[in-house]
Amino acid sequence: MCGIVGFVGQGNPKEILLAGLSRLEYRGYDSAGIALYAHPFTVVKAVGKLEELKKKVEASKEFELPYSMGIGHTRWATHGKASEKNAHPHLSMHKEVVLVHNGIIENFAEIKNFLQEKGYSFYSDTDTEVAVNLMEYYYRKEKDILKALFSVQKELKGSFAFAIMFLEDANTLYAMRKDSPLIVGKGKNAFYLASDVSAFLDYTKKIYPVENREILSLSEKEIHIYNQNGEEVKRSSTIAELSQSQIHKGDYLHFMEKEIFEQPKVVKDTLLYACKQENGKQLENGKPEEYATPGAKQFSSARKDPENAENPDFSYEAFSMAEKDFQDISRVRVIACGSAYHAGWVLKSVCESLARVPVQVELASEFRYNHPILENGELVLSISQSGETADTLAAVKEAKKLGAKTLSIVNVKGSAIAKESDFVFYTQAGPEIAVATTKAYSCQLVAGYIFSLLLAKAKGKISREEASNLTEELFLLPGKVQQCLSMDQEILPMAKELKDADNIFFLGRGLDWAISMEGALKLKEISYIHCESYSSGELKHGTISLIEKDSPVIGLLSQEELAGKSISNIHEVRSRGAKCFAIKTEDIAIEEEDFAGSLSVAKTHPLFAGSLLVLPLQFLAYRVSLLKGFDPDKPRNLAKSVTVE
Ligand code: F6R
Repeated sequence: MCGIVGFVGQGNPKEILLAGLSRLEYRGYDSAGIALYAHPFTVVKAVGKLEELKKKVEASKEFELPYSMGIGHTRWATHGKASEKNAHPHLSMHKEVVLVHNGIIENFAEIKNFLQEKGYSFYSDTDTEVAVNLMEYYYRKEKDILKALFSVQKELKGSFAFAIMFLEDANTLYAMRKDSPLIVGKGKNAFYLASDVSAFLDYTKKIYPVENREILSLSEKEIHIYNQNGEEVKRSSTIAELSQSQIHKGDYLHFMEKEIFEQPKVVKDTLLYACKQENGKQLENGKPEEYATPGAKQFSSARKDPENAENPDFSYEAFSMAEKDFQDISRVRVIACGSAYHAGWVLKSVCESLARVPVQVELASEFRYNHPILENGELVLSISQSGETADTLAAVKEAKKLGAKTLSIVNVKGSAIAKESDFVFYTQAGPEIAVATTKAYSCQLVAGYIFSLLLAKAKGKISREEASNLTEELFLLPGKVQQCLSMDQEILPMAKELKDADNIFFLGRGLDWAISMEGALKLKEISYIHCESYSSGELKHGTISLIEKDSPVIGLLSQEELAGKSISNIHEVRSRGAKCFAIKTEDIAIEEEDFAGSLSVAKTHPLFAGSLLVLPLQFLAYRVSLLKGFDPDKPRNLAKSVTVE
């Protein structure tokens, strides 16, 4: 949510900043802007996607001059609507300081009053303009840039990552952070600054992570990092794990398409991640065409020679926990937002079924305000792709305050939620760039299965043989996910039938209901069609009154013992005129003529069926969005990493 970039040194800042912003656009695309160091600063901003800014930059002669330093921003509007005056970079009143900001200044109103009393006036509605003027105020008072930055840091409440230029200092880029991500890249005679390493990966892989409450100064050849006490910190650079191919679309039309197609690999990587620490080495990693039998080598040798075979097994250590930590869990409270919250509902079903440990799933944004009561032994389990979501982070902090142990299932290494939690499991989805999650959600499901299985083992609720069978079934999942990729085309007739609908209803029972929530969210967020998911059994308690002739209804059917009842519910809406579609596992029989369309995925253990059902639902959303002429990677009003509450 908002992306910032900065550059200082030898190179072309204009190009570097624009390229960086194009990598960060997933963080917001309400407006964009850059500032380059000159006397006065050269600032250009544009409302809308980055393309609009690029057009302005191309049209301006000013940008043909050589520059040595600059900052850039891509915005998701919080304080103040998406307009040019509210777009970043923001200039201080005397034009001595310019900055870009990711985060929220919570005490901006009182600082604004203070500055107004000192004679400052404001041109925008943003909290950021308050911060830049506070910097100028202290800079004028202290006559020292670093001292001014430390004073500002002490006063600001909320979250921030700033990249800052002072008119007085033509060679130094300054930065500071608290609770918003920031990373430095070191090039040859240059330094880069960004919310996310992908912004400068085309130039360097050498990085310096920035810790909370640190202040930085960067020049062509030097980096200085100061902690909140003003002491200089020595830090060595490391090499970013990210590869170029992970941040480029390659031959795919959209990141969403690429990420859907990556699912066999990332599901497998997440399974292997959960094993490798116990076995001390990575399990054999198959080539893409071998996803049909991942882990199969280990399993087939186990069958032939059970005594000596090395059977893949999941390890508690993958969750940075010991068996005893699992044994001590009496209840689980899942906290998450959006799709991650939906993954929590799947975890609940699987965990309660396998481990017989009660699981409560709560929206992170509600948790703190519900006067949470946490029992002794209750584990608070947060799920988050970005590891940055403000509500989830705040809920984890609250849970810790209440004395609970916290585990997070997170995709981004070293993210705020991961750092805040006692224990962490890293899903192996790799960078997810499309705003609507696909592959990270799939990995969250897998992490939930593994967690449940380990909990069941630690609690003695399943036999070795059952555990081994379930593990084997899990290792067959990537191959079955791979088979689902053909649905990209098979879904087209259904997508065409649904694209003009105003409302679409998703129905399911039990696990199918949990998956239907994700199916409805995926479709609505990128096609702008109103979609809702309902528990099939609940429909006749109110919602059925919405059903009229040709109302589209998508029934999810993967749970054998519930399918009969769900099909009856589908008949109830069908007899009231609904046009029904089925997405199901191949073992569930339906009367095809009752449905306007149906798709079947492979059979797996019913507890894991969601991992397959979700593929056609993702393809459906993607295809409907394209048919309607939308950009599925950048749905309106949305941004990835929701860092505001
Ligand atoms: C929907 C989607 C969002 C996120 C939610 C939580 O496609 O991506 O609903 O799941 O904003 O984000 P994370 O997982 O980063 O905490």
